[in-house]
Amino acid sequence: MKRELALEFARVTEAAALAASKWIGRGDKELADKAAVDAMRIMLNELKIKGEIVIGEGEIDEAPMLYIGEKVGLKEGESENFTEVDIAVDPVEGTRMTAQGQANAIAVLAVGNKGSFLRAPDMYMEKLVVNSGAKGVIDLEKPLIENIKNVAKALNKSLQELTIMILDKPRHTKIIKDLQEIGIKVFALPDGDVAGSILTSIVDSEVDVLYGIGGAPEGVISAAVIRAMGGDMQARLKLRSEVKGVSLENDKISAFEKSRCEAMGLRVGDVLKLDDLVKDDEIIFSATGITTGDLLEGVRRKGNIARTQTLLIRGKSKTIRYINAVHNLEYKHESIINIIK
Ligand code: FBP
Repeated sequence: MKRELALEFARVTEAAALAASKWIGRGDKELADKAAVDAMRIMLNELKIKGEIVIGEGEIDEAPMLYIGEKVGLKEGESENFTEVDIAVDPVEGTRMTAQGQANAIAVLAVGNKGSFLRAPDMYMEKLVVNSGAKGVIDLEKPLIENIKNVAKALNKSLQELTIMILDKPRHTKIIKDLQEIGIKVFALPDGDVAGSILTSIVDSEVDVLYGIGGAPEGVISAAVIRAMGGDMQARLKLRSEVKGVSLENDKISAFEKSRCEAMGLRVGDVLKLDDLVKDDEIIFSATGITTGDLLEGVRRKGNIARTQTLLIRGKSKTIRYINAVHNLEYKHESIINIIK
């Protein structure tokens, strides 16, 4: 994948974050998401790529844009020479946080060579994520506490010195308590386990481990960035009824999830290693802050001027860039101006 493309993808998440930022604190997560999806799609369609969305906003019949299988990239010109890529997007990771004006919402995408990403249905996934210091020591077949002890050993830390990030959901209440009882510091995050996963690999972050059940699409995107940063991750697909409890509705959804997995050649509950989730190091990952959080500054607007902060990572060189940009919204391209201004 051409190196110059990296900056182009940063422009895509910048546009999505700018678009979503219009909806911060307005109480409507669908509108925030739609604005970011529209902006991302317009920007992707300006790039000299032959792209396919492999992790997106659902299937074609349920998502009008950026659906799984959608082809993106410039349609005119010498498109036969354009780079073929697979793209995993989450235009607003943290729709609720955006709508409620809470911290840590980001616009994200990961790009890889064709076939790089696991094609997973939109269901739940158990995730265990660590940085390069603990690469090779995690094993989801083993109990969580055993894993945590092995990670602490690899990082040369005592359990008291270890920090775990975990989504603050009822399904994790007992695990959080158990971890705290053995002296581990737990950061319980209301939403947004992609940012939580990335924090394990950021040098000045306190977070050593991300654990817990979140979305599978978010899991694949997290795996892309973890691979690009040299960390490690294992995961397991989970049925809705295992995560949210048995009910008529949840059982129906679970039966559908099971059949989707079968159609995609996956088995619920099998341990997926980093190589299964993302097959290639040649990843470009871009995330732009929507609301300010532990990872990135959010969009700050004053009239027509807006500031964004973007984390741009190239897996091949393992370069991590923070890009601060000041945008004059009046000068944006006419195709996008109404969505972001
Ligand atoms: P959305 O932006 O789609 O709401 O995702 C936020 C998130 O917290 C993800 O980070 C996480 O993987 C997933 O939701 C967890 O799902 P749930 O809210 O159903 O527990």
